[in-house]
Amino acid sequence: SMGKGLKVMISGAPASGKGTQCELITTKYDLVHIAAGDLLRAEIAAGSQSGKQAKEYMEKGQLVPDEIVVTMVKNRLSQPDSAEKGWLLDGYPRSSSQATALQAYGFKPDIFILLEVPQEILVDRVVGRRLDPVTGRIYHMTYSPPETEEIAARLTQRFDDTEEKVKLRLQTHNQNVESVLSLFEDITVKVDGSLSKEDVFATIDSALSNLIKQKNATLGMA
Ligand code: AP5
Repeated sequence: SMGKGLKVMISGAPASGKGTQCELITTKYDLVHIAAGDLLRAEIAAGSQSGKQAKEYMEKGQLVPDEIVVTMVKNRLSQPDSAEKGWLLDGYPRSSSQATALQAYGFKPDIFILLEVPQEILVDRVVGRRLDPVTGRIYHMTYSPPETEEIAARLTQRFDDTEEKVKLRLQTHNQNVESVLSLFEDITVKVDGSLSKEDVFATIDSALSNLIKQKNATLGMA
């Protein structure tokens, strides 16, 4: 596929559009999408011990401890499909210790995409968000409404998608973002995430195709 072996990190505040862009990126580039939040919610759904522990932190909008998150992400990155197709890591790392741990296991990104969205927009995006449990797709009651009545009837809401909880999640994000950014400055692409999802994707798409061109040129394949 066209993105073969590409290693991408995507970062941004809660509801900045990471999951939405990851749907569009994986459709075009066929990377393995690894979302830290999704892995944690799967643990909660499975009723595991780490899931129970994780939920206590997620309900307070705090970072889940490294001993849970680091192992979980490292294990998923170590699956053969991630090496084969390339990966798209969403919502990780959220601290310098998470970044360092991944590097120690030999996982290094080619590009770090940062979605920038003003805070006043984020709350609105969170409270309107809905998820389709059947397809896993992300909707918004105003900006990305469900296509059919049938889909509308089965949509669910995340337990941490309230105005009160998103403020706590934002606080956590603001406390940690600089320490992570400073580690990836040389490969960071900042994207205006306040535009329509198609316009946001157009910017990301051109950054990724330029990166692929560069990589191919270096390999003498251009
Ligand atoms: P996580 O699940 O990662 O949540 P988050 O970071 O708060 O991000 P979201 O999933 O809320 O938003 P998103 O950026 O994906 O936006 P989306 O595309 O859905 O983490 C949850 C919790 O898990 C954390 O609080 C923490 O406790 C824990 N956790 C996770 N990772 C961790 C880690 N590494 N270490 C420790 N703990 C960790 O879009 C949002 C809405 O806006 C949708 O309705 C969408 O339709 C709409 N929308 C999207 N783009 C646009 C657009 N361009 N225009 C209009 N609407 C749009």
